Amino acid sequence: MRIVLGVGGGIAAYKVASLLRLFTEAGHNVTVIPTEASTRFVGSATWEALSGNPVSNSVFDDVHQVNHVRLGHEADLVVVAPATADLLAKAATGQAGDLLTNTLLMAHGPVLFAPAMHTEMWQHAATRANVETLRGRGAAVLEPATGRLTGADSGPGRLPEPEAIFAAAMALVEGRQDFQLPLAGRTITISAGGTREPLDPVRFLGNRSSGKQGVALAVAARNAGANVRLLAAHMEVPPPAGVEVVQVETALQLREAALAAAADSDVVIMSAAVADFRPAEVSDTKIKKRDDRTDPVITLVRNPDILLELVELRNSTVQVEGHQLIVGFAAETGDSDGDVLAHAEAKLQRKGCDLLVVNHVGTDKVFGQDTTSVVILARSGSEPQEASGTKTEVSAAIISRIAFELNAVSPRA
Ligand code: CTP
Repeated sequence: MRIVLGVGGGIAAYKVASLLRLFTEAGHNVTVIPTEASTRFVGSATWEALSGNPVSNSVFDDVHQVNHVRLGHEADLVVVAPATADLLAKAATGQAGDLLTNTLLMAHGPVLFAPAMHTEMWQHAATRANVETLRGRGAAVLEPATGRLTGADSGPGRLPEPEAIFAAAMALVEGRQDFQLPLAGRTITISAGGTREPLDPVRFLGNRSSGKQGVALAVAARNAGANVRLLAAHMEVPPPAGVEVVQVETALQLREAALAAAADSDVVIMSAAVADFRPAEVSDTKIKKRDDRTDPVITLVRNPDILLELVELRNSTVQVEGHQLIVGFAAETGDSDGDVLAHAEAKLQRKGCDLLVVNHVGTDKVFGQDTTSVVILARSGSEPQEASGTKTEVSAAIISRIAFELNAVSPRA
């Protein structure tokens, strides 16, 4: 596929280098057209080297090739990232002062704008009107992500992560109407991995969680346009790019991080394996073998139930800006008191979360594996939903379900 990648003059231009890589690695032929202003952020040499194609932003370069007409005509897809307030205004009013705006006027195929700007600019009536005009003409304008902006401020206006723009672009080319990222503008907190409860400076009580499921969820949520905060307990896999990582070790640290993160989260997913108990005392020094040959006794105390506390916090807070969705995980084996689903239903009621993702576990199942099979139970009482496959596939199914629930309860403004 021939892609024209227009780069606007915003600090987020540096992220577009990764987007270009995603396009070229997928085998597409990309011509980058940076605006003059954008070259103050990322130079043309970067675009030439990464795309393998010459780069220009002037209608007067290579005039014999009539680039200002040809590039737009030949492109199967035009992506503009970051689409600044200025570029959106120029595109909406049909200006043609440089090669990129000329190309936009000549484009025959789908055009995708990935905006990035300060929140006030994005929410300004002028920008809103320009976005409406462009959408009205059939251009696809993504919702920006929410989160930390260039300065100390935060809010909607961040460039969606490159993987999310890539996913939206491919959906658009396939002619899908749902190219809009389902979690754009949403903040999702995901806990992952297993907590470690120290006994002394060298020993801990841990569990078999690898963190793969939580990381796969973070990737799926990021690719759906969400601003993702990963609360990472001990994990055997590295955290993905494009997500904010908060490292924790113990259940108490995870509790503190989760309650703080919940304050501005649309969704909290507790996929971490949290130790239910911790040693009552943590020795400052290494516990040594004793001369009298008696064995040490470790007394355990209950850890707080974080999921339960998150639900209580949510329920006690007046929800000014819509509903917070809380998702729990349950690892069940089934026993003489009931099968896996019976235990899971009871847990869903006990914990009060909105969705419960149920894994059937044994020492050979789920932990550390790449494939899994889950059932998603909803408190609303809707039919249990099954999903199986790789952890990536299952995560995509869980994230779509979350997006569905979220958009049904509190549609995006
Ligand atoms: N969880 C939590 N805090 C804990 C223990 C668990 O937030 N102290 C969360 C997990 O992240 C998961 C869910 O609760 O989302 C279910 O955890 P699980 O250990 O399967 O259930 P328990 O509540 O521990 O119940 P039981 O031990 O009876 O199975």
